[in-house]
Amino acid sequence: MTLLTPATPPATALQPTRARTATPRRFLMCPPVHFDVVYAINPWMDVTVPVDAGHAVVQWQALKAAYESRGHIVDVISPVPGLPDMVYAANGGIVVGGKALAARFTHPERQPEGTAYESWLNASGPARGVTSLGQAAERNEGEGDLLWDGEVMLAGTGFRTTRAAHAEVAARLDVEVVTLELVDPRFYHLDTALAVLSPAGTRSDGGTRAEIAFFPEAFTPESQAVLRERYPDAIEATEEDAVVLGLNAVSDGRHVFLSDRATGMHASLRGRGFEPVGIDLSELLKGGGSVKCCTLELRPAPSPTVPQSA
Ligand code: ARG
Repeated sequence: MTLLTPATPPATALQPTRARTATPRRFLMCPPVHFDVVYAINPWMDVTVPVDAGHAVVQWQALKAAYESRGHIVDVISPVPGLPDMVYAANGGIVVGGKALAARFTHPERQPEGTAYESWLNASGPARGVTSLGQAAERNEGEGDLLWDGEVMLAGTGFRTTRAAHAEVAARLDVEVVTLELVDPRFYHLDTALAVLSPAGTRSDGGTRAEIAFFPEAFTPESQAVLRERYPDAIEATEEDAVVLGLNAVSDGRHVFLSDRATGMHASLRGRGFEPVGIDLSELLKGGGSVKCCTLELRPAPSPTVPQSA
């Protein structure tokens, strides 16, 4: 009997053994000492539901400790009284290749945060290999809507960050931008509907593109098609996981920090060899944010290659 085995596996087949390697990251976070819900700028926020800022701080500290115990460095920006959403540091800017662009917020309630994050990046960026380019000219909510996949900038629009801001990011950070349109107000920022799990060029399983997870229904059919074409092996999350902000996750390539309530996502991640780290941020969910919202990644410029002596 002849066994017919294909000479080469199909192009999409990845290595079954998916040993995952973590790479150390540097994050910026802001403690929620002034956290509150006193205005409603997304459907998660209800000013009649009481908030316990003390409890929010305890939960936030657990997230910080979870990062630090896995070897990541966390910088802390001082919270400003009167800015209850400043805890969502991801919105403060975008830092790629050692260049930082501070945010320009949509809603007047959050606009002073842009200046606070810009000041931190100006003062503390250089010691971390980061040059501040100042504040964006266009409406831009930082890593809330701008997710670096290691190769291109995935850029959300529809609720906050504008297409004009995408063009500004492409020009000022010198990156290729892939625009994605959001349609569901519950997922008003890109980072509530999509997570980068392994940036392009860092996968140990044979994949070359970045590995992502996303909730398809948060996007227009056109943007869903863009995502499916670019990332054929993406994890497509269920609505159940998306509505507990299970896609608002931070990955170091091995550990994926995400809501402890997103149990379906935990299982999908485990199935691919990631280690989900469940975090309880129930207080901060009242403001419409979870793990990723609290975390701005600082990506320094790549270290210069040492010239080979002749
Ligand atoms: N209350 C904040 C707002 O609506 C939440 C921001 C959450 N941050 C995020 N990266 N999705 O602006």
